[in-house]
Amino acid sequence: MKVLVVGGGGREHALCWKLAQSPLLTKLWCAPGNAGIGTVAECVAIGAEDVAGLVAFAKDNAVDLVVVGPEGPLCLGLADRLSEAGIKVFGPSQAAAELEGSKGFMKDIVWKAGIPTAWYGRFTDIDKAKAFVREKGAPIVVKTDGLAAGKGVVVAMTLDEALGAIDDMMGTKVFGDAGNELVIEEYLDGEEASFFALCDGKTALGLVAAQDHKRVGDGDTGPNTGGMGAYSPAPVVTPEREALVMETCILPAIRTMAAEGKPYTGVLFAGLMFTKNGPRLLEFNVRFGDPECQVLMARLKSDLLPVLLAAAEGRLDQVSLEWRDQCALVVVMAAAGYPGSYQKNTVIGGLDQAGAVDGVTVLHAGTAFNDQGQVVATGGRVLGVTAIGDTVKQARERAYKAVDALDWQQGFCRRDIAWRALARDGA
Ligand code: AMP
Ligand code: GLY
Repeated sequence: MKVLVVGGGGREHALCWKLAQSPLLTKLWCAPGNAGIGTVAECVAIGAEDVAGLVAFAKDNAVDLVVVGPEGPLCLGLADRLSEAGIKVFGPSQAAAELEGSKGFMKDIVWKAGIPTAWYGRFTDIDKAKAFVREKGAPIVVKTDGLAAGKGVVVAMTLDEALGAIDDMMGTKVFGDAGNELVIEEYLDGEEASFFALCDGKTALGLVAAQDHKRVGDGDTGPNTGGMGAYSPAPVVTPEREALVMETCILPAIRTMAAEGKPYTGVLFAGLMFTKNGPRLLEFNVRFGDPECQVLMARLKSDLLPVLLAAAEGRLDQVSLEWRDQCALVVVMAAAGYPGSYQKNTVIGGLDQAGAVDGVTVLHAGTAFNDQGQVVATGGRVLGVTAIGDTVKQARERAYKAVDALDWQQGFCRRDIAWRALARDGA
């Protein structure tokens, strides 16, 4: 099979790394890819959001399956355009991708499906939004309806903070049109984790859970990022809770989306809060998490390609998956300054030494080759040092050993990935 992966981050490196191991694969492209992806796939210089360019490439090269990594092209209708051209695609239609593209749409579906979630209101009028916040009181959560690069959420512990967030988002429009509508919702307290499921429009196949580290600094301090590290399994998501999440969150969403005429195909990413009253759905994303995908792929024993194809063809009921009975952990190496401004094109050394550590794979998130053929950093999140181990402790030791083998002065990472799991173990 000839496969095209769309995207160029750590998630896409993980997908390409796993797909490249499939005996069914004859050719793998990635658009646009990165320096690391280039070792397992042929990188194509087409942007992930260049819908017309991607469709033309897929047609010209008789691609059998397109696997879409990020939400951007899905929200732009890439899956629809590919389907119209007769090309199979793993990823939801534009209408179904609204689950991530519009928080208001997502909340309405979740509410209609009877999925346990925070109460909420949708607002296009600033005075009504403020009145709602005053009526409900703090703590309360204010979100832009549209995509705001993961930044359009303010968890307000005081009324003033909530009112300020409404002014910023809807008044000053700090996130542009994303703030034309706001979702204001109940504050939920608990431990957060993510669960993933493959979907084929009619049914869903549960994957496994993972836990991300969104803050930039050790001890969950500093500004939010795309994710500084992750691990799987997540001890908070016991097998019983996984089953409960499938029954109460994933399957009702799939049934409701189908009933709405927007069948959901692809991977559904459930952001969950495990409260003292049980799991509550925070949000759906329409893609794999980054860096959660890196640890999922490290743990997956089965061939990924036939499973993604089964999802694209509506045959997930014929598939089952095998997982390694091991822990996987990824430490994200970012450029100094991230998530603020950072230097680009700094040279990264020691990649071979890091990759030689037992159980370690260094996945690239934002890299390219310079004119001298050296690997340079081109993004904020640059590498995902991914390790597998018999315990989370072993996986973590291996990952940090590899981090220490890197020679990159301008890079940094969190030193406490998996602290929650280790605290539980009493380690
Ligand atoms: P989201 O973009 O919706 O995932 O929100 C970003 C982060 O804000 C989440 O990962 C949570 O840590 C936090 N958050 C979102 N919604 C809530 C909520 N209703 N209660 C408490 N924290 C929340
Ligand atoms: N790591 C969180 C996300 O991909 O949204």
